[in-house]
Amino acid sequence: MILSPTRQILSESLRPIRAEGLLLGLVPTMGYIHEGHLSLVDLARERSEFLAVSIFVNPLQFGPGEDLSRYPRELDRDLTLLRDRGADLVFFPSVEEMYPDGALQVVVDPGPMSQRLCGVHRPGHFGGVLTVVARLFGLFRPQIALFGQKDYQQAVLVRRMVRDLEMGVEVVLGPIVREEDGLALSSRNVFLSRDERADALGLRRGLQEVQRAFEEGNRSGQELGRVLFREVEKHPLLQLQYGEIVHPDSLEPLETVVPGAVAAVAAHCGGTRLIDNHILKG
Ligand code: PAJ
Repeated sequence: MILSPTRQILSESLRPIRAEGLLLGLVPTMGYIHEGHLSLVDLARERSEFLAVSIFVNPLQFGPGEDLSRYPRELDRDLTLLRDRGADLVFFPSVEEMYPDGALQVVVDPGPMSQRLCGVHRPGHFGGVLTVVARLFGLFRPQIALFGQKDYQQAVLVRRMVRDLEMGVEVVLGPIVREEDGLALSSRNVFLSRDERADALGLRRGLQEVQRAFEEGNRSGQELGRVLFREVEKHPLLQLQYGEIVHPDSLEPLETVVPGAVAAVAAHCGGTRLIDNHILKG
């Protein structure tokens, strides 16, 4: 596995890969690798001939007062996990290496879909995400890039950026990987105390209640939203930010819910912000 802490090593390492015409797959991450990330690595390995992973905690996507400085980092462990899982190259630049000129002048405007759901509570977040993803696409020029459904809005926005800016990358979505009890894996779960960890399950339970009510014939977006609230409210350590049933592409709230719609939820659990979602099945 090639270790690439700099853009220079990256471009030298990718030159023969491009010359051979190998199909390059990229899995962008912020590290503290877990099975969710590794499931994307597995998917990427099936679909590409050279598999690259990036690890970069991107300051551009953290707002003031968010958890940039305490975001969990453990590079050696990450590299071992990625090597064991068959990654061919890992790029892990420092902030100075990724943004050598300091603040960028030209950045990606993520547009109106970034103002919804998480965007309401994290202004500037998706601009920071799309800007770093665009920069990673520029550095790697991958044919395929993998993103998790766990961050549904992020994946939709990346797809939209690729389409609107003709970036020529195939964006593949991987399913949400969960703990046995249903909690979606997240690097941030490490911050949860025992009690918080127990209440964090309320997000998943809320989504399951929405699926149940939908199966029983409830098609009202508002009522299904209330089903979600009521379940989340049973967990006192959760402070709900939003719970909505939205259109899978536009992310607009739905009055009448159809199969394929996305139930999306975000809450603080103690000092930790958690998100989850579920694609409704008919
Ligand atoms: P990070 O949170 O490290 O996630 C990296 C990728 O792993 C994302 O595509 C995310 O959706 C996926 N992922 C996270 N948890 C998952 C789970 N439980 N199941 C399946 N996939 C999961 O998302 C980011 O980093 C950053 O915003 C990034 C795209 C790297 C840009 O900085």
